[in-house]
Amino acid sequence: MAAQRRDGPPRGAPLPAEGDEGLFSQSWFPICLAEELEPGAVLGVPFLDGRVAVFRGDDGDARVLSAFCPHLGADLGVGDVVDGVLRCAFHHWRFDGAGRCVATGIGDPPPSGAALFSYPVAEKFGLIWAFNGETPLWELPDFPVPENELVVRTLALEEEFPVDPWVLCCNTPDVQHIKALHGITFDGGDPEAEWTDHSMLYDFQGLHKGGEVIDNRVGIYGTSLYYQSTDFAGRWFGFLAPFGLPAPGRVKTYFVVAARRDLGPPEEVEAYLDFVVDLERQIVMEDERIMRTIRFRPGTLTKSDRLLGNFFRYLRRYPRAHPAAGFMR
Ligand code: FES
Ligand SMILES: [Fe+2]
Repeated sequence: MAAQRRDGPPRGAPLPAEGDEGLFSQSWFPICLAEELEPGAVLGVPFLDGRVAVFRGDDGDARVLSAFCPHLGADLGVGDVVDGVLRCAFHHWRFDGAGRCVATGIGDPPPSGAALFSYPVAEKFGLIWAFNGETPLWELPDFPVPENELVVRTLALEEEFPVDPWVLCCNTPDVQHIKALHGITFDGGDPEAEWTDHSMLYDFQGLHKGGEVIDNRVGIYGTSLYYQSTDFAGRWFGFLAPFGLPAPGRVKTYFVVAARRDLGPPEEVEAYLDFVVDLERQIVMEDERIMRTIRFRPGTLTKSDRLLGNFFRYLRRYPRAHPAAGFMR
């Protein structure tokens, strides 16, 4: 008994937390809502172990740069956009979209090496995304319905959760919790997943807890994006939960919901999107008190945890880096 108290129950190998050894998952992370980023505006946003400054260039494309000025460290998130480049509020040095210092305010030549880190950026599904890497290792997925046939709504959830994004991703292969906590039933046995180095997807049919017939394709991209394509009682919707990483051990969640434009008149499409947002909010609320208090770690698993166990292996192998480390703090 004493030995058992000392050693505790058996555990699996630990999973690397975001920021461990100064490294972060090489994944696409949502930075802000696209509509928040008006032309001419600069947003300062916490990201990874530092901050980024986000703005639109003259071409309208978003840029995500490390925020602390290489001159004396002012936060460029409180700077402004002048002639399509980012200008520091302190001594008016200017930085182009690639992060190069193109001018100082006083007219001294910009020192060589005075640069910011420029993240790969995507604008999709109403969000500005940054990839933690020099170049993206994978592309953001599409729904099975062409984008021009969709009505898409994107929103930011107010609350942040005190876990890494990949902890929330673990819910998707956690079939036990889908059944026990969410009351969803699966037809047939537990699903088989399709794996790549940067994604996991599976299909299942069953019943939602209200008894509605569901036909789902769900999965995870990287360590930061939940994907769902669902026929719910005969009507299709798409859903994404992109998970932002404002700091190690924090997650900021967005919702992207999509319905077919030809579902009916615009009011009916909007009403259906309301319904989908409520449905997904309910599921998040069921998870919420657990995710607020959990100390997540691989423990003793059972047969029904096979997919989850495979996802732990995926997470342990997942590429991690921090090319912006020298720029972010
Ligand atoms: S601190 Fe930014 S220009 Fe001096
Ligand atoms: Fe869940």
